[in-house]
Amino acid sequence: MVLLNSVLFLIVLHIVSSKSIKDNEPFFGQPEQIHLSYGHDPSLMIVTWVTLNEVNDSVVEYGQLDMLDKRSTGNVSIFQDSGSEQRREYIHRVVLHNLIPGQKYFYHCGCDDYGWSPLFWFTAMRNDSDFVVRMAVYGDMGKDNAQSMARLQEETQLGHFDLILHVGDMAYDMNSDNARYGDQYMNSIESIAAYIPYMTCPGNHENAYNFSQYVAKFSMPSSYNTYGGDANHFYSFNVGPVHVISFSTEFYYYLQYGFEQIINQYHWIEQDLKEANKPENRAKQPWIITMAHKPMYCSNNNDDECLFANGYIFIRVGLPFIQAFGFEQLFAQYGVDLEFWAHEHSYERLWPVYNMTVYNGTKGAYIDPDAPVHIVTGSAGCNERHDPFGVPRPWTAFQNSDYGYTRMNVYNSSHLYLEQVSDDQGGKVIDSMWLIKSKHGPYSYV
Ligand SMILES: *[C@@H]1O[C@H](CO)[C@@H](O)[C@H](O)[C@H]1NC(C)=O
Ligand SMILES: *[C@@H]1O[C@H](CO)[C@@H](O)[C@H](O)[C@H]1NC(C)=O
Ligand SMILES: *[C@@H]1O[C@H](CO)[C@@H](O)[C@H](O)[C@H]1NC(C)=O
Ligand SMILES: *[C@@H]1O[C@H](CO)[C@@H](O)[C@H](O)[C@H]1NC(C)=O
Ligand SMILES: *[C@@H]1O[C@H](CO)[C@@H](O)[C@H](O)[C@H]1NC(C)=O
Ligand SMILES: *[C@@H]1O[C@H](CO)[C@@H](O)[C@H](O)[C@H]1NC(C)=O
Ligand SMILES: *[C@@H]1O[C@H](CO)[C@@H](O)[C@H](O)[C@H]1NC(C)=O
Ligand SMILES: [Fe+2]
Repeated sequence: MVLLNSVLFLIVLHIVSSKSIKDNEPFFGQPEQIHLSYGHDPSLMIVTWVTLNEVNDSVVEYGQLDMLDKRSTGNVSIFQDSGSEQRREYIHRVVLHNLIPGQKYFYHCGCDDYGWSPLFWFTAMRNDSDFVVRMAVYGDMGKDNAQSMARLQEETQLGHFDLILHVGDMAYDMNSDNARYGDQYMNSIESIAAYIPYMTCPGNHENAYNFSQYVAKFSMPSSYNTYGGDANHFYSFNVGPVHVISFSTEFYYYLQYGFEQIINQYHWIEQDLKEANKPENRAKQPWIITMAHKPMYCSNNNDDECLFANGYIFIRVGLPFIQAFGFEQLFAQYGVDLEFWAHEHSYERLWPVYNMTVYNGTKGAYIDPDAPVHIVTGSAGCNERHDPFGVPRPWTAFQNSDYGYTRMNVYNSSHLYLEQVSDDQGGKVIDSMWLIKSKHGPYSYV
């Protein structure tokens, strides 16, 4: 009897355990890393998320007043990490069409079989150039020591911003620990990026495996109405009275991935600037603002090009010997108003500068200046901490190494306001600038 009982017990145990092994086949289909980006026009919004197992359905349910009465489907693509574990992730992209400009929408993403995300909301982009565009701008925010994160999450959820510009370098690094750092970073910015578009450019910390994590996980708008992939390196979009151009400085420093990318990008930017300067376009979007990672000018003292060459010379004047594909002259020629950079873990505001010469406006440095204004804002916070400053350059207007980020309001065609928030000083505004322009276009000497 005892023996029979034990045999029965073993048989039952066997059945239970083999069933539980089957049930426990690892399958986790919950959406994570949810984030938004702008599409090509105000009627679109792109929702991107990740599942860690193969989920074939990509669905967004959305509507006004938390109704979720609309449903859009999209595509899933496989991201294969190149680390030792060769981890796979499933990237879901859905384009929401026919949004009403300025309308608030509630949404969740996922699918019926494997789970839905929490409920989020966003406001569709307005379809005119007659409203105040409010952005937060920063670079160099890591997974660890992301000092500005909580403040940015809170400000975003309180509705202070319409969008984010992340000027390269994130997670430190996305590929670390077999891409788990990227997952953790994308999960922590979800409390920002699921509510407002998170528009990016690549930094040197994204370079691993030919920028594959960065290219796979974001969905920036390409010129061909597709999202993500190569478009994440360089693209442009309009918001209100602003035309934003985002591009890669890293093509110039990781030549092993292909020299032709420098040429392609340069020609694309030149075309884009030409288009943006057509009178009918510049009338609607008078402000042209660029974002890219490594600055043309900087005054930090940390053994990089800031110290030796006043800034990243390839980006400013072009590649050595051939003296081509530099941006300073091109940007002056097409009347770029403002240029955001990062990479240095600090904040620096410059006087209007061209070819290492200051061109203040006659009624005030930033009133109709005769050169673009540069801002280096890379102090959001990462494990590499601060970069110290050296002596100010003749074009340095303000230096500060507190952790923090930039807020920018573009009021109308003539008035742009920008300020620097110090997280170290409890959110205090430590610098501000009004850039005032009665006209936009090429500068006098080009
Ligand atoms: C935006 O406005 C333009 C012109 O006023 C119009 O042609 C276009 O259809 C509008 N787009 C949306 C999404 O409402
Ligand atoms: C997804 O589709 C593939 C190819 O059709 C199929 O092999 C796989 O079983 C599907 N996965 C799920 C979770 O439905
Ligand atoms: C999904 O794929 C289809 C067909 O390949 C394409 O037309 C559509 O634009 C894709 N959608 C997204 C969101 O990429
Ligand atoms: C790197 O990726 C780009 C596209 O993003 C591609 O054109 C290039 O050939 C790749 N380089 C290498 C070495 O794989
Ligand atoms: C910059 O200034 C130097 C002299 O200081 C001059 O030789 C050079 O041609 C200028 N470059 C441009 C692009 O204007
Ligand atoms: C530009 O303007 C600022 C602020 O008025 C001033 O401090 C600086 O000296 C000016 N630089 C030049 C070269 O005029
Ligand atoms: C533009 O905005 C500024 C700041 O709000 C305001 O002072 C100015 O009057 C506005 N200009 C126009 C033409 O609306
Ligand atoms: Fe960097």
